Amino acid sequence: MPVDDLSKIVSLCKRRGFIFQSSEVYGGLNSCWDYGPLGAELKRNVKDLWWSEMTRRGNIVGLDASILMHPKVWEASGHVENFTDPLVDCKKCKQRFREDKVEVKGKCPACGGELTEARSFNLMFKTFMGPIEDSASVVYLRPETAQGIYVNFLNVQGSMRQKLPFGIAQIGKAFRNEITPGNFIFRTREFEQMEMQFFVKPGEDEKWMEYWKEQRMAYYVGLGIDANKLRFHQHVKGELAHYAKDAYDIEYEFPIGWQEMEGIHNRTDFDLKRHMHTSGKNLMYNDEVTNEKYIPYIIETSAGCDRSLLAVLCDAYREDPANERTVLSFSYKLAPIKLAILPLMKKEPLEGYAREIYDTLFKSTKYNMQYDVTGSIGKRYRRQDEIGTPLCVTVDFDSLEDKAVTVRERDSMAQERISVENLPSYINQKLGI
Ligand code: GAP
Repeated sequence: MPVDDLSKIVSLCKRRGFIFQSSEVYGGLNSCWDYGPLGAELKRNVKDLWWSEMTRRGNIVGLDASILMHPKVWEASGHVENFTDPLVDCKKCKQRFREDKVEVKGKCPACGGELTEARSFNLMFKTFMGPIEDSASVVYLRPETAQGIYVNFLNVQGSMRQKLPFGIAQIGKAFRNEITPGNFIFRTREFEQMEMQFFVKPGEDEKWMEYWKEQRMAYYVGLGIDANKLRFHQHVKGELAHYAKDAYDIEYEFPIGWQEMEGIHNRTDFDLKRHMHTSGKNLMYNDEVTNEKYIPYIIETSAGCDRSLLAVLCDAYREDPANERTVLSFSYKLAPIKLAILPLMKKEPLEGYAREIYDTLFKSTKYNMQYDVTGSIGKRYRRQDEIGTPLCVTVDFDSLEDKAVTVRERDSMAQERISVENLPSYINQKLGI
């Protein structure tokens, strides 16, 4: 049974150490979340897989730009002027909403009261750099990581001797003062993006847009996400961001409905042209093959790390009432813990032998493992199922005699007897990663 209700994911995440509310002891901070030990591992896997998918192609290199940038960046990019949502207030209950998300126009979704006229609300967080808090020291927390790539375009291209087409990939925090954050980690004010900007010759942009759409969809399917829960949504006029000529979202069917997980945008030469104009610096690409100088077009793939992680969690969640268990059926490469070593009982010499097996595997494999001896074996299996551990290794009294253990697979619950000697290679082969 797949998940029908986001609150089930929220409570599992808290119970099992994936995600906690930020500053919980102070009552929490609205829409801010902390990744616990297993969430941090899962997030690392989401990021690592994206990073190698992008940077192991030969024509995409990485970057890690600073969050704070020169304020002119955001004037040039159009964010100071255009990165706004229409804000309305309820005259009765004083709650605030995004006008474009209000179903019955003019009526408060909470109390039915009358709404004010919409006004533009800029989503960028402002802060001050240095000790003086005046307009000259205003800086913004970046609302997208992309601009750090654009202003470094020639630094990267020149230092890495890249020729078009080539890409720059980056993972990092972004901040948006969303009017209505919510739905757990789906829409937050602080989040992480995994963005890749692909620089192409003008005129070749539409071809590359198609290429990246196909690549990105295939990527999610390769992560083990159910293809029936993925689709494209093309932006129509009015939906397009101020920088985009064409845009597609990759949507996932979350328990809250079909929602954007990643945006693929044809940003044309909009950003580089604007930075060239505002900075007065020449950001043209010098094509040594054709001897032409031009501003490249950019195809952007912009994935939310937290949203991808939420999709991965929702997709993996299964209730299995026949076996009285809840399972996170992650693909093995995403699972935060790959292996659990479970001595049948807390008793010597069984425990000592199980520890020995744990230590050997710890040295001979590179996987995250847990050692668990508390509670009945059934309870321990269920605990591992609920955090998505692919394999459990049970050490029983026969193991002391036959030097073999039982390996249980998470989804099928199938068990196999494997000799301790062959265990590292068996596990490597089973996990296949
Ligand atoms: N550089 C282009 C850009 O930022 P976007 O469609 O605004 O495009 C890209 O954002 C992705 O970032 C989204 O598909 C989503 O996964 C993630 N994202 C955007 N706003 C978010 C928020 N408030 N909370 C969590 N993730 C968000």
